[in-house]
Amino acid sequence: MLTHAENELMCRVGPATAMGAALRRYWLPALASAELPEPAGDPVHVELLGEHFVAFRDSEGRVGLLDEACCHRGASLLLGRVEGCGLRCIYHGWKFAVDGKVLETPNVPDGKFKDRIRARAHPVREAGGLIWTYLGPAELEPSFPDWLWHSLPASNVLVTHHFVDCNYIQVIEGLVDSSHLGILHSNGLRASLDSDLGYATKVSGMQFDLAPRIEEEATDFGFHYAALRAGKEGGNAAEVRVTAFVMPCVVLNPNGDVATLIVPANDTRSRFFHVWWDPVKAVGEEPLRSETLRFVGLDRQSMQNFGIAADSTALERPSRLNRFHQNREAIRNGTSFSGIAGLVEEDVAASASGGAIRDRTKEMLSVADLAVGRLYRIYLESVRRVASGLAPVGLDTGVDLGRARGVNAQLPRSSDWRSLVPQHRKTAA
Ligand code: FES
Ligand SMILES: [Fe+2]
Repeated sequence: MLTHAENELMCRVGPATAMGAALRRYWLPALASAELPEPAGDPVHVELLGEHFVAFRDSEGRVGLLDEACCHRGASLLLGRVEGCGLRCIYHGWKFAVDGKVLETPNVPDGKFKDRIRARAHPVREAGGLIWTYLGPAELEPSFPDWLWHSLPASNVLVTHHFVDCNYIQVIEGLVDSSHLGILHSNGLRASLDSDLGYATKVSGMQFDLAPRIEEEATDFGFHYAALRAGKEGGNAAEVRVTAFVMPCVVLNPNGDVATLIVPANDTRSRFFHVWWDPVKAVGEEPLRSETLRFVGLDRQSMQNFGIAADSTALERPSRLNRFHQNREAIRNGTSFSGIAGLVEEDVAASASGGAIRDRTKEMLSVADLAVGRLYRIYLESVRRVASGLAPVGLDTGVDLGRARGVNAQLPRSSDWRSLVPQHRKTAA
C-alpha cells in the first residue's frame, strides 16, 4: 500500500515531474524498427513520457527523433516530407537532419540564419529491432544497454508492440506477479499442455500450483524474484521461475528467451514491447513467428480484434465501457475462465481495469505480491536518488546486464533459487 502522494510520485512521468526526471536518465525503447521500415518513408508519431515526437528514417537509413512541433512556429512535423537527408516541414519548408541540424530555411533571406539555430533532436540508437532514445541531460547520458539479443541476426529476433490504456506501473506490476498466471491465464496454460511450442512447454507447469512461494532480492540492476511451485510430479522437486526486473522498464521472463519492455507514452497509456530471441531458431521468421504470436494473442488479427494495435481507434480499444470485450457467455458455459481470448489480452484487461492510474492507497498486498512491493520501492528510491543529485537505480555502478537473467528449472526443494542466477549480486534492501 502506498500513500496517495507516493502513488502520484511513482506514476506521473511528464517533463516537470520527479519520476519523469528519473526515467529520463535511462535509454528508453521508443518504437520498433518495423515502424520505420524503409529509408525516406513516412514519418511516425511517438509519444514518450508525455511528450510528442516525430521519428523518421532519412534516405541513408539513419533514424531521427525530433520534437513533433516544428521549432519555427510549431506545425506538426508528422505532416512533414522526408526529402533525402532530412525532414521538411510543409508550413515554411524548413528542413531538419536527424541530429537536429537545420539544413534549409527557404523563407528566410539570410542564408546563414540556419547555422545559428537547431531543432531539438534526441540521441537515437537502433538495435535488435528496437529504436531507443535518451531524453535526459546530455552530460549524463549513460552507456547504451547491450542486451542479449542485440548481436543476433534479425531472423532470430521477434519484436512486437501494442498499447495498454493505463499507467505503466500497472502493466509492469503484472509482469512481476507470477501468482496470477495459473488463474487469469488458466485457459492458455491448459492449451499449453497440447502444444510443443517452446513458449508453451515452459509455462505449462504453472497450472499445478496456484499459490507459488515468492521470494525477491534487490540487485544492482533492479531485482530478481523467484516463484517456487510444487513440481508437477510432486515429491521433493520444486519448479522454480526466476524473473529479472531491470530498471527502468525491462522484465526478463523466466522462459529465458523473451523480454518485455514497457514505457509510458503518457501517464495513462503505455507502450508494450515483446522481444523473443533464439540463437539457433529463426523465431523472427515463419512459421515460428506466427505460431508464437498466435499462442500469446499478439498476431495482427487478435490485436485488431481486441483494439490494442497501434492503429486501433478509441472505440475499438478495450475499456470498462465495453467490459474489455469479455465474453460472458463463454464464462457461463465454462469454455473460458476469464472470458477473454489471448494471454496478452487477459493481461491488458486485468491491468487497465484498475483505472487509468490505479489507487494504491486501498490495496492489500500479500506474500504473493512481494515482488510488486519491491517494484514500488525501487521506483521510489530512484526518484529520491535523482532528486538528491545521485544516479537512479541501475545507473550508478556501471551495471553489467549479463547479471540479469530470466530462468526456469526444477530444483530440489532444499536448494536456493539463487543458484540459478550465480551472477546475482544482492544490494542493500
Ligand atoms: S512552422 Fe515549420 S517551417 Fe514554419
Ligand atoms: Fe499475465
